[in-house]
Amino acid sequence: MTTPKLFTPTEVGDIQVPNRVVMAPLTRNRARSETNEPFDLHAAYYSQRASAGLIITEATQISPEGKGYAWTPGIHAQRQIDGWRQVTDAVHTAGGRIVLQLWHVGRISHTSLQPDGAAPVGPTAVAASAYTFDGNGFVETSTPRALATDEIARVVEDYRSAARNAWDAGFDGVEVHAANGYLLDQFLRDHPNQRTDRYGGPIENRVRILREVFEAVTDVWPAGRVGVRFSPFSNFNDVADSTPMETFGTAVDVANGFGLGYLHLVEGETGGSRDLPEGASYAALRQRFDGAYMANNGYDRQMAIDAVERGAADLIAFGRPYIANPDLVERLRLNAPLNTPDRDTFYGGGAEGYTDYPFLTADQAA
Ligand code: PHB
Repeated sequence: MTTPKLFTPTEVGDIQVPNRVVMAPLTRNRARSETNEPFDLHAAYYSQRASAGLIITEATQISPEGKGYAWTPGIHAQRQIDGWRQVTDAVHTAGGRIVLQLWHVGRISHTSLQPDGAAPVGPTAVAASAYTFDGNGFVETSTPRALATDEIARVVEDYRSAARNAWDAGFDGVEVHAANGYLLDQFLRDHPNQRTDRYGGPIENRVRILREVFEAVTDVWPAGRVGVRFSPFSNFNDVADSTPMETFGTAVDVANGFGLGYLHLVEGETGGSRDLPEGASYAALRQRFDGAYMANNGYDRQMAIDAVERGAADLIAFGRPYIANPDLVERLRLNAPLNTPDRDTFYGGGAEGYTDYPFLTADQAA
């Protein structure tokens, strides 16, 4: 029997990977509560999953303002860098590769999560019809303040210093989170972005902040170690666009112009249906990009094998299966049964439902 291509090596930009199974970014809300630091529990969790071709960390805020949920980690303070260093060392010792996802939530936040209880920031001062988690429960997101035109350079600088911090923490690369209704996605789409300055209006303007972020991040990192994630047809967190193929076609062109290592798309509704609107095509977006294409959303073993075999994707990112199966690559390779993820322990808590999912036993693997 020939080995399916899913289990064969490839390059993700400058990163050599032994297989095409990727651990998708997964918010787990287990960082230290006051300081937003990852610690040895995170090192254990990620290193258990080191057989993935590539690990993408949970979304990690680039600045205090970029935070939108309780207990998510940051990459803007020395102790956070030190915590992430434990993670990268553990993953590398276990033979893995790991990139950090750079995150600014924009308006998907709550005043209680912001420095000095301030309003979150966004392209426009309109609240999302969305919820966040403040540590006690789900709360409606707060009405944001619109970023002033001359303030955007400061946000871009926050991306640059977070990218530098990720370098110092020993990561193999970074992924710019431009998906799921967070800050960069809020700028890209014409429903949440109602600006009339050079960051709003036509797509050439809406994509400007993304271009500036890529400029900043690729000052720090070789472009081949930078990826980007978009969710072009997802309405998660109350974002919508009147011409998504045009919007994301342009966004992909911008990413391609920088020579980024990979393009990562959420295919369909984030964590939901893979159905596409009329006229939508991932293949057409991917065609505009020269680097690796990473597909995500609801893939099972057979779909993943087929997609890579027929060249529809270079890599497949798995989310929920990676919560419950640290040895997902081995289980997929053997077509072994998967552990079922426990929703009650997705967000918050400690080791339970985090580092205690069983690996295949020697008997099962035989
Ligand atoms: C979440 O915390 O719910 C979350 C974070 C990042 C995403 C999607 C969802 O991209």
